[in-house]
Amino acid sequence: MRVLVTGGAGYIGSVVIEALLDAGHDVVAFDDLSTGHRDAVVAPARLVEGDLLDARAVTAALRTHRIEAVVHMAARSLVGDSVADPAGYYRANVTAGLTLLEAVRAAEVGRLVFSSSAAVYGEPASQPIDEGDPPLPKNPYGDTKLAFERALRWYHTAYRLRSTSLRYFNAAGATGRSGERHARETHLVPLVLQAAAGTREAITIYGDDYPTPDGTCLRDYVHVSDLALAHVQALDALARVDGAEVYNLGLGGAGTSVREVIDVARRVTGREIAVRVAPRRRGDPARLVASTERIRLALGWAPRHPALEEIVESAWRWMRGSRDMGGARRTPQPPHAPRPE
Ligand code: UFG
Repeated sequence: MRVLVTGGAGYIGSVVIEALLDAGHDVVAFDDLSTGHRDAVVAPARLVEGDLLDARAVTAALRTHRIEAVVHMAARSLVGDSVADPAGYYRANVTAGLTLLEAVRAAEVGRLVFSSSAAVYGEPASQPIDEGDPPLPKNPYGDTKLAFERALRWYHTAYRLRSTSLRYFNAAGATGRSGERHARETHLVPLVLQAAAGTREAITIYGDDYPTPDGTCLRDYVHVSDLALAHVQALDALARVDGAEVYNLGLGGAGTSVREVIDVARRVTGREIAVRVAPRRRGDPARLVASTERIRLALGWAPRHPALEEIVESAWRWMRGSRDMGGARRTPQPPHAPRPE
C-alpha cells in the first residue's frame, strides 16, 4: 500500500516507517522538521517537507503520491508544554489534524491510523486502564488527542473514513537504525541513560511519595519496535474492518516504577547512576498501565521485546552510537539517506 506518514522524521515516526517498509509498503513521510530530522527518514521512503496547516500542500502530497492510507503521527507531545501553550497545541494537534482530514477527504483516502495517547484518560482511579473507561484528559495535550479521536469517529459515520487510534503508553528503546534524539529531552529512559553516560550529573526522580510500592510513579514502557508493529497491523486490519477503532498500546501488567527503570539501567550499562529526589512534577499520575486485551484480540498484536532490559539496552546501544552521548546521532549511514522531494 502507498502510505503517507505525517511526523515521519520524528522518533516514533522513523521507526514506524522502518516497519512499514519491512512489511512491503511504499512510504512517503510528511514532516515540517520542527522537531524531526531529515536523516531519520529511512530510504527508500521519501520525505515531503511541508506544513500540515497548508491544506494545498497536504492535498498535493496525497494526490501526487497516490496515497491509499495515512499514519498521522505529527504532533506536539509534551504535557507540561501544552499547559503553558494551549493555543500552540490546539493549532498543531487539532487545527492541523482537521486540515489533514479535509485533504484526506478531498484525495479520497479511505484509511487512517492515528497516534493517540494515554493522556486522554487523565488520572483514572482504576487500573489497568480499559478503552471503555471514560476519557478525562487533565491537560491540553490529552484534550487535543481526544478531540481528534472524536473527529475520526464522526468522519467514519458521515464519510466512511476507516480509522484506528492507538493510545500510546510510554514508548522507549531504539532499533539498530532509529532512536530518540529530542533537542529538549524530558523522557525518563534517555535521561537516565544520559546520567549513566556521564553527560548528565544525576537523574532527578520527580516524587517518591506516591501511593505505589516504592513511592515512585508506575508506567507502562513499550519497545518502540513493538509500537511500530501495531501500526502495521492496524493498517492491515483496516482492509477488513470498517470502523473507527480505539486501542491501548502498552504491555499491561503491574507497571514499572521510576526506581526500577534506574536499577535496570544500572545493570544494563554497568555504570553508576546518581539519583536526586525532587518534588512531584505537576500533572504526573501515580500509575498509568494499559489493559491490552482489546489490541491483542483485534489485531493479534503481541510484543516481541517485552523485557525492560531489552528496551533499555536498545536505547543504550543507540545512545552509544552517538558522538556526544547526549542523544544527537552522527550523520546517517549513507545508504539510508532519504530522497528529498
Ligand atoms: N520522570 C522522573 N524524572 C525525569 C523524567 C521523568 O522522575 O527526569 C518520571 C515522571 O515523573 C514519570 C515517569 O518518569 O513518572 C515517566 O516520565 P516521562 O516523561 O518519560 O513520560 P510520561 O509518563 O510523563 O509521559 C508519557 C508520554 C506523553 C504522554 C504521557 C501519558 O511521553 O506523551 O505518557 O500521560 F502524554
